[in-house]
Amino acid sequence: LDAVSVTLTVNGETRSIDIPPTVTLLDLLRERFHLTGAKKGCDQGQCGACTVMVDGRRVNSCLQLAVMKDGAEITTIEGLGTPDSLHPLQAAFVKHDAFQCGYCTPGQICSAAGMIAEGHATTAAEIRELMSGNLCRCGAYTNIVEAIEEVMG
Ligand code: FES
Repeated sequence: LDAVSVTLTVNGETRSIDIPPTVTLLDLLRERFHLTGAKKGCDQGQCGACTVMVDGRRVNSCLQLAVMKDGAEITTIEGLGTPDSLHPLQAAFVKHDAFQCGYCTPGQICSAAGMIAEGHATTAAEIRELMSGNLCRCGAYTNIVEAIEEVMG
């Protein structure tokens, strides 16, 4: 297939690239832009490891064709905080030991940021429900919910 030009603003930086129309947003971020925070777990929308923010909404980037996001603003885990200045969710995940292997963590944190912005969760049960698209095979759910609760106040 012929390459198509796509322009995205990724973590505040506007970038243009020519890519085949079949490239997913996840593969574009990881393989072309070398932003490997978003992880490829299932590559079919079932695990949430690939979660990023698109125009302020959390999405499974493995299910998005990059060309469909032309002009969009993308925020990945790399754009949420830095090692010297952690995002409150990142700090809370560290404090509450909300991971074991860490593979799902970037997706968990991007999803939690989106969930908090959506404003629909007020209880631990609602957090669990609204975070149910993000799987943790280590089973750190209790600590993940505690970390998110702390940030939500
Ligand atoms: Fe996208 Fe699993 S890699 S949902």
